[in-house]
Amino acid sequence: MKTEILTLLKETEGYVSGQELCVRFGVSRTAVWKVINGLKDEGYEIVSVPRRGYYLKSVPDILSESEIASCMRTKWLGRQVVYFEETDSTNTQAKRLAEEGAESGTLVVADMQTAGKGRRGRSWQQSSGTMISMTFILKPEFPPDEASMLTLVAAHSVAKAIEEETGLTASIKWPNDIIINGKKIVGILTEMSLSVEQDCIHYVVVGIGINVNLTEIPEEIRETATSLSLETGRPIGRSKLIARVMEYFEKDYEQFLETGDLSGILDSYNAHLISMDREVRILDPKGEYTGISRGMNRVGELLVEREDGSTVNVYAGEVSVRGLYGYV
Ligand code: BTN
Repeated sequence: MKTEILTLLKETEGYVSGQELCVRFGVSRTAVWKVINGLKDEGYEIVSVPRRGYYLKSVPDILSESEIASCMRTKWLGRQVVYFEETDSTNTQAKRLAEEGAESGTLVVADMQTAGKGRRGRSWQQSSGTMISMTFILKPEFPPDEASMLTLVAAHSVAKAIEEETGLTASIKWPNDIIINGKKIVGILTEMSLSVEQDCIHYVVVGIGINVNLTEIPEEIRETATSLSLETGRPIGRSKLIARVMEYFEKDYEQFLETGDLSGILDSYNAHLISMDREVRILDPKGEYTGISRGMNRVGELLVEREDGSTVNVYAGEVSVRGLYGYV
């Protein structure tokens, strides 16, 4: 009932009468009053006026199951939210839940991760109250070798969601870093579990970390990382951004399932691609080379035009891409 009352308060411009809440949710005035008081304790500013009812004046930047759920406008993705104030890693939690039978679309969010995981075995730095750490579970029926494209879909969805919520221009550094004003703001880690026979997907977890309201970036990554609040000069509501990411991903993912490739998001992805038509250096363990990036294709490869006119289809995986002058 807490989520429903919160949702109604958020959707209503003026006052919601206590009577309406009682009738709608079939509970007593005391029960409504208790929920309202609980919300006030959490930091929601709610004005109560006798005979007029309740008016939600401001929403705190807290994360909770109710707060996230009250922002959610999706059909199935993120409709089940599991929230932790602190956990090891939302990817690890999502995998545990998936093993226990959690349904596709389940979203795990934590305010604080003590063992956040980055790509290539690296760790992901964390501070409480300022970041988004979220992971959702998918149980797709397509072949395992198509799962790597999900990270590219997620990068696109997150870039769109950030742009809508902040008004900033978000670019994508292929395959899946989101860059604002030349610095990284998002990391995405997709992990997959296969069936015993290794021929079909048991589940996939897509983990997304966003630097939202960090006011200071740790010294060692200051050159290459930033946060949304540093770039906009104002705090950004995390729950709304989480819900926006879910909306975009649900739409992009359904398109991906329909076409079986990235064609549905391709033009938009390439319009966000930071390296588009620019010189890049490909750090391939088999040997570095440079070329002009001509964008991603329908299966997620980066097309790089070499000086001799040939085009190399670059797979993600172990390869890194650098602009000729620095990180992006
Ligand atoms: C990267 O190295 O760029 C990927 C970082 C991914 C971090 C996110 S935070 C939420 C989720 N849980 C984790 O442990 N990792 C991902």
